[in-house]
Amino acid sequence: MNGFAGSRYGAGAPTRPPGAARAAGLRLDGEPRFAWRGVMLDVARRFRPIAELERFVELLAAHGLNVLQLHLTDDQGWRFEVRAYPRLTEIGGRRSQSQLGHGPRSTLDGIPHEGSYTQHELRGLVRFAAERGIRVVPEIDVPGHAQAILAAYPEFGVGGADAVRARVAEPWTRYGISDEVLNVEESTLEFVGTVFDELCEVFDSEFIGIGGDEARKRLWREDPRTQEFMAERGLASEDELQSWFLQQIADRLRGRGRRVVGWDEMLEGRDPAPDAVVASWRGPVGAELGARLGHDVVLCPDLWTYFDYRQSDAPEEPIPVGTVLSLEDVATFDPVPSDAPEWYADRIAGVQANVWTEHLDTRERLDYAVFPRLGAFAEVAWNGGPLDWAEFSERLPGYLGWLDEQRVDYRPMAGPRPDQQRPGVPGVPRDRADRLAELARLTANL
Ligand code: ACM
Repeated sequence: MNGFAGSRYGAGAPTRPPGAARAAGLRLDGEPRFAWRGVMLDVARRFRPIAELERFVELLAAHGLNVLQLHLTDDQGWRFEVRAYPRLTEIGGRRSQSQLGHGPRSTLDGIPHEGSYTQHELRGLVRFAAERGIRVVPEIDVPGHAQAILAAYPEFGVGGADAVRARVAEPWTRYGISDEVLNVEESTLEFVGTVFDELCEVFDSEFIGIGGDEARKRLWREDPRTQEFMAERGLASEDELQSWFLQQIADRLRGRGRRVVGWDEMLEGRDPAPDAVVASWRGPVGAELGARLGHDVVLCPDLWTYFDYRQSDAPEEPIPVGTVLSLEDVATFDPVPSDAPEWYADRIAGVQANVWTEHLDTRERLDYAVFPRLGAFAEVAWNGGPLDWAEFSERLPGYLGWLDEQRVDYRPMAGPRPDQQRPGVPGVPRDRADRLAELARLTANL
């Protein structure tokens, strides 16, 4: 048992398979292997109304899962009502249009997209989820992925408000990683602190997501004021500056009795918080470093758990992005192989599937990406992987029948129906070798 198992998650999570899982034809045996059995849903790129989140929570609960991480903010949208900063949702919650497709042949759709949750609505969601054994872990992503914040409050960006206004007209209408990051002024830290204070008033989760992923460092590097700040504090690199920034937030949240969860980039530079949970998404490097440093680790490697990735090589797959992640691939995910060393195995708190929604703009498209892959993921999360594919396949028709009864618009095993395809909307399929090489490059500074 790791330290995580002694936390409120380990102690409070249901330890017996829900009846609904049996009804769904899923096989969840005995006690769960992992304390954290999560799904992250990106409601920043694509807002989903509360009623749909409640439906999603019910489906997660039926699969024996117990964490819903809500990715509430990103370059493309801010969804969390902050009473002290109303423009975050008024301005940051609306973009004039969205990218259609992926890569160089993508276009813009000309359709405004907007939405945000009131604190009252989110309190209701937290209650609804708790009654079903699901903890909602909110995530506010800083210091990068900040364009929606800066559209609303340019004074928190690099170079001063006028310079930010000249660069940022609105939340990003394109997908990818914006260069925009928060500046490191005292007033910006206070702003971020206030946002997290309000977040803690709404969400009772012991764990609070602070993001930390994919912060582009160019603006920090080129800004004399940021460089001066780094010199004053003895911070030798922009990576260390990011650690310093995240440490301020982690310290503040610890003062409120919370622990932070951050993506594995959090470990670039210095370790910002010894009690942080590391969500390791870029291959094994972040997980191993996190475990070695004594962190609890949630495994969500993109090659195995990114449900926006395409489900087959067929040209009919809608907006194909990422590497192929078929149902069988998910079933053969082996989070902690039997020969893993004890120092590593003991620190793995759980697993999480991440659902990024750039290209999932309706409930039906979300269903298509998530199901039936979630069935295999849930069994891995409960039993440990890998599954016996032949045995799982025999039970699959029963599970698909249950999804039909729940009106889940899953991907048929034969491939997408015509109404599930996106003819003419370009994607960017990747191959595994190419992505593995990129991951090695991206994690070289860990
Ligand atoms: C991530 O996929 N940016 C965590």
